Amino acid sequence: MELGLHEKRVLISGGTSGIGLAAARLFLEEGARVCLMGRSQARGEAALAALKQEFAAADLIFAAGDVTRPEDDAACVRQVIEQWGGLDVLVNSAGIYREGALDDLTAAELEEILAINVKGMFFLTQAALAPLRSAGGAVVNVASDAGVHGNYFCAAYCASKGAVVLFTRAMALELASYRVRVNAIAPGDIMTPLTEQQLQNSCDPQQALEEMASVYPLGRIGTPDEAAALIVFLASPRASFITGAIYGVDGGLTA
Ligand code: NAI
Repeated sequence: MELGLHEKRVLISGGTSGIGLAAARLFLEEGARVCLMGRSQARGEAALAALKQEFAAADLIFAAGDVTRPEDDAACVRQVIEQWGGLDVLVNSAGIYREGALDDLTAAELEEILAINVKGMFFLTQAALAPLRSAGGAVVNVASDAGVHGNYFCAAYCASKGAVVLFTRAMALELASYRVRVNAIAPGDIMTPLTEQQLQNSCDPQQALEEMASVYPLGRIGTPDEAAALIVFLASPRASFITGAIYGVDGGLTA
C-alpha cells in the first residue's frame, strides 16, 4: 500500500532512539524527509550516521533540543522550516518512564516526568502549530497502555500518559477545522532502551522479561518497528479520516 508520505517533512522528538528512531527509519523508507530531535548532539550524530548508511539518499537532519524548553522547541521547528520550507508531520515520542510507590515519589521526580512527558509535548506541539496548520498536517503522540488503564506502582507515569491521551483528543478538536489530524498510539511494553533500563533495574533481568511477556495474550512484548508502523500509518494520508483516536499496539494486553 502506497502511504503517500513521499517528501513529507517530519519532525520526531526522541528521534534518536527506540520508537522514535524506528519511526524515522520507516518514514525514510516511504521517501519522507526526517528531522530527529534530541538532547544529545553525540547521539544525534550517531543516529544520523546509522540511518545514512541504510538510506544513502536520505533527506535527514538532526535538531538538538530539550522538549521541556520552549525556546529549544521553537528553534527545532525553525530549523525544519529553514531546511524544507514547512512541516507536515510531528511525532511526539520523547518520554521517560518511572515507577514506584506514591509514598516514595519526590516532588522533583514528579516534576521531571510531567515536564518531559506532558509539558514537553505541549511546548513542541505549540511551536509547530503554525506550520502544521499551513500544511494541513498530522500529529502522532506516543501515549502508552498506561495512559488508558492503571498500572501498579506507576501513578506518575500513568497520569502523564493519561494526559497525553486527552491532550490528543482535545487537540484533534481544536485543529480539525485546519485539516490537521491528531492521534496517539498506546503501546504496551516495547523492547527499547527505556524498557532495557527498566529490566536492568530488577535483580534478574531475564526473569523480569519473562514475567513482563507473560501478561501479553500474544506471549511476548513488542518491537520498536511494530509501534513505529502504527505511527507512520496514522501520520499518512491513508489515515485521512482518523483523528482524535488512540490506538493500542499492545499484543492484546488491553483486550
Ligand atoms: P527511548 O528511551 O529509547 O526513547 C525516548 C527518547 O526521548 C530518548 O531518545 C530520550 O533521550 C528522549 N528524551 C527524553 N527526555 C527528553 C527531553 N527532555 N527532550 C528531548 N528528548 C528527550 O524509549 P522509547 O521506548 O522509544 O520511548 C518513546 C516513547 O514511547 C516514550 O514517550 C515512552 O513513554 C513511550 N512508550 C514506551 C514504551 C516501551 O515499552 N518502550 C511503552 C509505552 C510507551
